[in-house]
Amino acid sequence: MRRIVAPSMLSADFGNLERDTRMVDRSAAQWVHIDVMDGVFVPNISFGFPVMKPIRQATGKVLDVHLMITDPVRYAARFVEAGADYVTFHYEATDDCAACIEAIHAAGARAGISIKPATAAEVLEPLLPSVEMVLVMSVEPGFGGQSFIPSSIDKIRRLSEMKRRMGLDTLIEVDGGISSANARVLFDAGAEVLVAGSAVFRADDPAAEIERILNA
Ligand code: DX5
Ligand code: ZN
Repeated sequence: MRRIVAPSMLSADFGNLERDTRMVDRSAAQWVHIDVMDGVFVPNISFGFPVMKPIRQATGKVLDVHLMITDPVRYAARFVEAGADYVTFHYEATDDCAACIEAIHAAGARAGISIKPATAAEVLEPLLPSVEMVLVMSVEPGFGGQSFIPSSIDKIRRLSEMKRRMGLDTLIEVDGGISSANARVLFDAGAEVLVAGSAVFRADDPAAEIERILNA
């Protein structure tokens, strides 16, 4: 099983974005997670293309862009142009998931699809063969620093079983309320990519917390 940690830049210090990105770049984290919110799909606005640019310039690591926006197909290619390696959109944000997946692939990135806490894992079954990753939200999308929703663990297990049954290699990512205190149970359930925002950036030693999550 792969183990990947993706620190979420939403919890970084935007006044020191280059410094914080370089810290992640030097750390054991393999990916950098970027949360884009439009104030419509979620009740919060984060940042967009101009803020991605200094992050892309400060690291060669995999840029994992999590779109919490309505009508994601409209902007998919621009996020790839801005340096995204993975572009993940929400199942709940579009009527045409297949078109969105196609747009991400056509632009040259890997595609991910995410479900909110109230959405059943089973809705992803028909889409699983077309994406490289599924993202289980373990908090309501919109804000960092929330508490992990325990029922997410069962969702990870069901997705893990689904991909095994279908003979697929799709990555399972989990996002929200994750720290070194609960990373182990998530890896054990079948998660391979763990996103952590506040646990990393509020730690006294962020690089050490990243190591603790990886080795949980
Ligand atoms: C929430 C974002 C998360 C957030 C996680 O909508 O998708 O990536 O930054 O933050 P923590 O780890 O603090 O829950
Ligand atoms: Zn996220």
